[in-house]
Amino acid sequence: MKLERKAKHVIAVGGGKGGVGKSVCSAALAFALSKKGKRTVLADFDLGAANLHTYLGLNAACTLTDFMHKKVESLEDAIVPTGFENLSFLSGGDYSFGAANPAHWMKLKVMRHIHAIDADFVILDLGAGTSYNVLDLFGTADKGIVVTVPEPGAVINAYAFLKGALFRKIHTVFGRHTKIGPVIDKMVNSGESHGTFGLHTFKEIIEKSDPDLTPLINEIGEWFKPLLLVNMTKGDDHQIIENLEGLCSRKLGVELQELASVPANRELSRYLMNMLDFFVSYRSADIMAGINRAADSLLGEINTEAAEERVFRTDFDDDILQGISKLIDGLDDMLFLTVSKELMKCRLFFKPLYVIKALVGMGVDDDLFFCPD
Ligand SMILES: Nc1ncnc2c1ncn2[C@@H]1O[C@H](COP(=O)(O)OP(=O)(O)OP(=O)(O)O)[C@@H](O)[C@H]1O
Ligand SMILES: [Mg+2]
Repeated sequence: MKLERKAKHVIAVGGGKGGVGKSVCSAALAFALSKKGKRTVLADFDLGAANLHTYLGLNAACTLTDFMHKKVESLEDAIVPTGFENLSFLSGGDYSFGAANPAHWMKLKVMRHIHAIDADFVILDLGAGTSYNVLDLFGTADKGIVVTVPEPGAVINAYAFLKGALFRKIHTVFGRHTKIGPVIDKMVNSGESHGTFGLHTFKEIIEKSDPDLTPLINEIGEWFKPLLLVNMTKGDDHQIIENLEGLCSRKLGVELQELASVPANRELSRYLMNMLDFFVSYRSADIMAGINRAADSLLGEINTEAAEERVFRTDFDDDILQGISKLIDGLDDMLFLTVSKELMKCRLFFKPLYVIKALVGMGVDDDLFFCPD
């Protein structure tokens, strides 16, 4: 099934530690965006431990699990209304064997379907932990929000989560590279990646082996700018948050951007089965003040992709990427005076749309670049 990208913005909400408020904040953010007139889908991607349907008091007839079990053809078919204007819901569904560990091809299929959802915003509520599934879903989003509470354990987990997400992204981009791929595999297998691993150390590795590819590291740094949401703040949390930001900057070479602070609200516990009613009521005013600020800065930050991009292909499965990679191999070397073929092929797994536009700019034309009619 060929899919075209329709979701304008896919936002993943993760954070490593369980119980820090990823689901509550995802739901509140989706609600806030819908109130601002954005067609929003709140999607429960806590594979194997979904609970948003309980929070929303919604018993969806169709779920993500049904999609994974091929009971529905399209993920969009499993999206249900919430009763609130502009807000729809994709339920994770009940626990089923294997749902938490989908096969690689299924993971890719799910990711493609996420981007094909027709909505202004798709908010992915991720599960706890740093499994590859969680990290890859985080990496597939246009923007990632990391939720933490201002406690040492949660902050360390948030750091580990970001480190894992960065590592997975680098693996996706360079994993197939003949020289750099094996270096990454060696790091993983020897446990070296558990030491200091950051964009700067990786840049040093690349500079030694393939200096042509170093601009790509800067691009990954530009792209990987996670947003930080501090939940259940107490008012005296500056130091611990500064520590997290410092750790990310020093060790990972990643700059965290503070998105919002959300205070603890005692009333919330009474609405754990009808949270949307809570968000509507004055009782959630303090939470919604923080969340509305988050929604406003998201809206301000995100650039809407130009409509002209629609003609270009936006859905890239493995076969397409391999096809374009082969096409680059076959092109005249004279075309690659300012940028190397190797860099372009690696960049393909990071910014495919950027690469096909660059190729078109170089005068290369191929059906692979465009959406099939
Ligand atoms: N701002 C808040 N004020 C008060 N309680 C909160 C707040 N945020 C979250 N909680 C409470 O914390 C608990 C955990 O929240 P939530 O389920 O959103 O965490 P989570 O990170 O999604 O957990 P998991 O990793 O298990 O999915 C819930 O009982 C929720 O009511
Ligand atoms: Mg949750």
